Amino acid sequence: MRTFKSIFAMTMAIAISCGSTVQAQTKNNNNMNPVIVYFTHSGNTELAAKQVAETTGAKMIRLLPEQPYSSEDVNWVNKQSRCTQEHLDQTLRPAIKSIDVDFATVDTVFVGFPIWWHEEPAVIRTFLDNYGEQLKDEVIYPFCTSYESPMSEADATLEREYPSLNIRKGLRLPAKSEEIKNWIKQ
Ligand SMILES: Cc1cc2nc3c(=O)[nH]c(=O)nc-3n(C[C@H](O)[C@H](O)[C@H](O)COP(=O)(O)O)c2cc1C
Repeated sequence: MRTFKSIFAMTMAIAISCGSTVQAQTKNNNNMNPVIVYFTHSGNTELAAKQVAETTGAKMIRLLPEQPYSSEDVNWVNKQSRCTQEHLDQTLRPAIKSIDVDFATVDTVFVGFPIWWHEEPAVIRTFLDNYGEQLKDEVIYPFCTSYESPMSEADATLEREYPSLNIRKGLRLPAKSEEIKNWIKQ
């Protein structure tokens, strides 16, 4: 675990240092701002969000659950743990603290999260549900961090659960700056 974290942090540092800001694709090219909304439990997705911010210039906004996840909550080996229950019951929506974003002034939203159980954590579904009305005119770029699961798995669940939102193909980070730029151009 410690080795994984060190390698992750090192890769992120190199990737960030190679980056340069590019304009995220906007839906109407009127110079509106992109934002990054992300959830992290152990910090990897925050580093990933920094990499996206470095490349896009977008402001970072951290999603916080009303009830923080304890280490027992994220024990996926325990069938009774909070994360396992939130995976098994896909209707669960853990409450989140409200975020300070005026989506009227934003047209591109990067949504970052750790992969939990091969998909986005329930906190992300709470965000997409709570802010769905404000997000329907936005271009949404999801990104993830994970041990090994590919982004395509979360792409599939997001597409299935939120067909009315304009969600682009996601990206698993860390990634090379060039890869992030190409992702944003899609
Ligand atoms: C509850 C839980 C479930 C996870 N499920 C997966 C998984 O299905 N596939 C995977 O590759 N990694 C999985 N992971 C590992 C995380 O995706 C990975 O450590 C991520 O980078 C953590 O991000 P964070 O530091 O921003 O919280 C899981 C971690 C937790 C805590």
